[in-house]
Amino acid sequence: MMSETTPQVIVRDVWKSFDGGRIEVLKGVTLEVADGEVLALCGTSGCGKSTLLNVISGLEEVDRGMVRVAGHDVVRETTRVNLLRHHIGYVFQMHHLMPDLTLAENCMVPVIAAGGSRKDGMARLAELAAATGIGPRLHQRVRELSGGERQRGALVRSLMNDPELLLCDEPTGALDESNRERVFELLLELVRSRGRTLIMASHDQELAARCDRVVRMRDGRIETDAG
Ligand SMILES: Nc1ncnc2c1ncn2[C@@H]1O[C@H](COP(=O)(O)OP(=O)(O)OP(=O)(O)O)[C@@H](O)[C@H]1O
Ligand SMILES: [Mg+2]
Repeated sequence: MMSETTPQVIVRDVWKSFDGGRIEVLKGVTLEVADGEVLALCGTSGCGKSTLLNVISGLEEVDRGMVRVAGHDVVRETTRVNLLRHHIGYVFQMHHLMPDLTLAENCMVPVIAAGGSRKDGMARLAELAAATGIGPRLHQRVRELSGGERQRGALVRSLMNDPELLLCDEPTGALDESNRERVFELLLELVRSRGRTLIMASHDQELAARCDRVVRMRDGRIETDAG
């Protein structure tokens, strides 16, 4: 229908291999994620969840197929960096914070990269740090933080520019029960209160069930309900 809003993410028949085609990872993935949808991406280890998130973010090139985020063609090189800077937040499976910088310094990197002001960035950082309870650790080097603290820090960093699309790869993987609950609730609250779109790769069935929709992957393909 003409009146429907454009999906936030469109992935159509995407193929992705590594090692010159010898390792086939995505085998014709088709997926649409509505604007404001909270989607869980499940499936056994190695089925291609992280690769799919990388492809959606534009960090990984596709062999063929179409990837669009907010109407932008991600496969076309020229738009990629801007999309990633201004539109997409990414919490990596391995947090990818810079170990010798403090958490606060890490969080300011995407703000500066997107041309934001330090003052606004610091205000946003204070707000997110309070919400995640990571405030007392902000000025410590990342190498000194625990796994869970790093993960919360990575969540804060991903949200610094208030992205419309948030990609989270096992965002609660390194957390104990109570922190898992806390971080996930916070994530949902931050995303839902602002009508943002979330795609979360997770092994955690319980958390997945609390998303709007669960999509399962198996061996590089999206499983259909019938299958
Ligand atoms: N850069 C790469 N070079 C070669 N193979 C790769 C590369 N990246 C991923 N793979 C392979 O692709 C497959 C899918 O990896 P991916 O990380 O997407 O799985 P996943 O579903 O995220 O798994 P997990 O649940 O363990 O995180 C794996 O077999 C992996 O070894
Ligand atoms: Mg993964």
